[in-house]
Amino acid sequence: MNTSYLGISFNNPFVLASAPPTATGDMVRRAFEEGWSGAVIKTITRDPVKNLSNRFTSIKTNDRIWGFENLELLSEQTPEQWFRDIAAIKGDFPDCPIIASIMGNTTSPDEWIYLALGCQDAGADLLELNFSCPHGYPERGRGAAIGQNPDYAAKITGWLKNCKQINLPVIPKLTAAVANIRHIAEELAMAGADGFCAINTIPSFFGFDLYTLNPRPDICGMTSYGGYSGSGIKPIALRAVSELCQSPGLPVMASGGISNGFDAAEFMLLGSPLVQIGTEVMLHGFGVVRKMQRELQEFMDWHEFKAVSDFVGLCRNKVTSFAALSNDRQSRPILKQESCNGCGGCIIACRDGGYQAISIDNGTPVINDKLCTGCSLCSNVCPSGAIEMICV
Ligand SMILES: Cc1cc2nc3c(=O)[nH]c(=O)nc-3n(C[C@H](O)[C@H](O)[C@H](O)COP(=O)(O)O)c2cc1C
Repeated sequence: MNTSYLGISFNNPFVLASAPPTATGDMVRRAFEEGWSGAVIKTITRDPVKNLSNRFTSIKTNDRIWGFENLELLSEQTPEQWFRDIAAIKGDFPDCPIIASIMGNTTSPDEWIYLALGCQDAGADLLELNFSCPHGYPERGRGAAIGQNPDYAAKITGWLKNCKQINLPVIPKLTAAVANIRHIAEELAMAGADGFCAINTIPSFFGFDLYTLNPRPDICGMTSYGGYSGSGIKPIALRAVSELCQSPGLPVMASGGISNGFDAAEFMLLGSPLVQIGTEVMLHGFGVVRKMQRELQEFMDWHEFKAVSDFVGLCRNKVTSFAALSNDRQSRPILKQESCNGCGGCIIACRDGGYQAISIDNGTPVINDKLCTGCSLCSNVCPSGAIEMICV
């Protein structure tokens, strides 16, 4: 499971993202004891914050949380406390890289450099620049306001790269809430960025409790826009990581909606040698890392991959532009009768959302090849996996 990022070794690809599980040195220690290979500390800022007391809400079905929203700010610890914590943790866990997440302001390099040097002197291995927090900071020209403005982002990256005393790799953490993430990343690559982390949480509003008419999260009857994380954002993160792995092609640490080892494998196939996880750990604890490692190993066994490096980036080029997709060959649905439970979902979907190509004969769906255009809606709605799409 060994992997490396910018020449730094990690025992396995699973790293804690900057989030509540890395709020204190003690939590990072416990995570390392459980098997996390590295940790991004909760973002440090010059003046520690006071958080809202109610700041989370979620989208659930039964007992599974698919989407999570937070209105949390940055670290509640002082930078100086973090410098001491990093030094102590590195003393006890020298093989577990610590990624220092920092945020300063756009008007002067002083805060960025103070934080970066403090973390570097304490023994941190990488610097992650928080250019992507979607709430609390953009109003003050920080966080996602930086990541959405290539000029600010390049200027700050340049401050750190041009500071002679700083020799840690500099990794901007990008937001997906931009029109063109490649464009931002290419500007930052020119400013000297060594790699990227993508993505942060996504600007969101989780709606109302229809009984009380209060918004979620309910902060004394009011709310504001927060950051969306967890399983629901995985496709948005996959797209961002895919784009960045293609261009500018600097190494990417993936973050966003990774809740098991199979999710991790998908990001790694795009080219990420490391994955960062936040929400899943908040919901299920540090122990999930063991299950994630087993799942990733299971995936590797399916394909007889012996090492992580056998598949990192293997599928990078399977994602292309829309224009480059082939429209010469047709897909066709094939019904596996033994798996069909006769629910009729495919017939309704094809009738009202497709091409009226499926009828029923003696309780069994029958697909009319002449009417079917191979859109795959039937295969998607089938609850029992009885309709498979094949390329003809
Ligand atoms: C409650 C909470 C607090 C977070 N705080 C930070 C932070 O201080 N700095 C940062 O860069 N990202 C922060 N994040 C974003 C996470 O690091 C991560 O990028 C994001 O949640 C997506 O990953 P996930 O779906 O695994 O949680 C936070 C996320 C959550 C849920």
